[in-house]
Amino acid sequence: MSDQYAVIGNPIAHSKSPLIHAAFAKQTQQAMHYEALLAPLDGFAATVQALIEQGYKGVNVTVPFKFEAFQLANQHSARAIAAGAANTLSFNAQGIVADNTDGAGIVRDIEQNLGRSIAGKRVLLIGAGGAAGGVLQPLLAAKPSTLVISNRSLDKAQRMVKKEAQSQIKLQACRFEDLKQQTFDIIINATSAGLTDSPLAIPNSIFAQNCLAYDMMYGRETPFMRQAKDHGAQVADGLGMLVEQAAEAFFIWRDIRPTTQAVMQHIRTHEKLATQ
Ligand code: ATR
Repeated sequence: MSDQYAVIGNPIAHSKSPLIHAAFAKQTQQAMHYEALLAPLDGFAATVQALIEQGYKGVNVTVPFKFEAFQLANQHSARAIAAGAANTLSFNAQGIVADNTDGAGIVRDIEQNLGRSIAGKRVLLIGAGGAAGGVLQPLLAAKPSTLVISNRSLDKAQRMVKKEAQSQIKLQACRFEDLKQQTFDIIINATSAGLTDSPLAIPNSIFAQNCLAYDMMYGRETPFMRQAKDHGAQVADGLGMLVEQAAEAFFIWRDIRPTTQAVMQHIRTHEKLATQ
């Protein structure tokens, strides 16, 4: 029987992960099965336990279970510890290993797929929730000249900055209105505002010439993307990050790195068909 994996979330019906991992498995000729599983909001640990008993090798974890996944594991990678959350669990004889591939996914998408170097650039991270926390350390490791975290609730951004007090990178927290005098080369929207189609109260002046505006959301144009496009930025959605974080998880499980371009292209085409 082939090795079994799953992605667990709530909701999970629209997850692209089964499609992505099936494509990776075919490409690399790995005998594996990967499915999407809905866990009850109070049933994440029980779902994982049942999968372990059935011999599953690992799972991806998505909203709202990433923090719980981290806590459930008895071994943690450095990047999972940095994020305080896990999106990838591996099951072995010693128990559950937690990792977090989200940050590696966004950095790889920006640097490899979009061809933008982060090193030496002024980077703005908008948001201070789980999504922002998951990518902060890998972004810092890519050595921007400055990283500003801006959030509607300032205290949360300040807490994130405080946690990285050891960082060599110039790191600041601010409110949206404090961004008025600043411009950025790379702006990442890690808020969930796009889910409700809400615009962000960020100034139009923050987009530097040749700015890359990156929204972690995919599948729709958010108000942030529209604002960025209207003010001259190159705009990217989070599909590349999704595929790259999956490739990194696949690598953890199978010790083989799939290529991502064809899968990204396939999903973009597929999605267009689905919405027409
Ligand atoms: P996630 O796991 O998606 O990061 P989260 O931890 O609930 O979810 O964090 C949501 C983030 O989106 C927060 O930074 C939140 O700002 P607050 O900390 O001020 O709540 C941000 N957010 C959500 N809706 C927003 C909106 N309409 N405008 C600005 N920020 C918003």
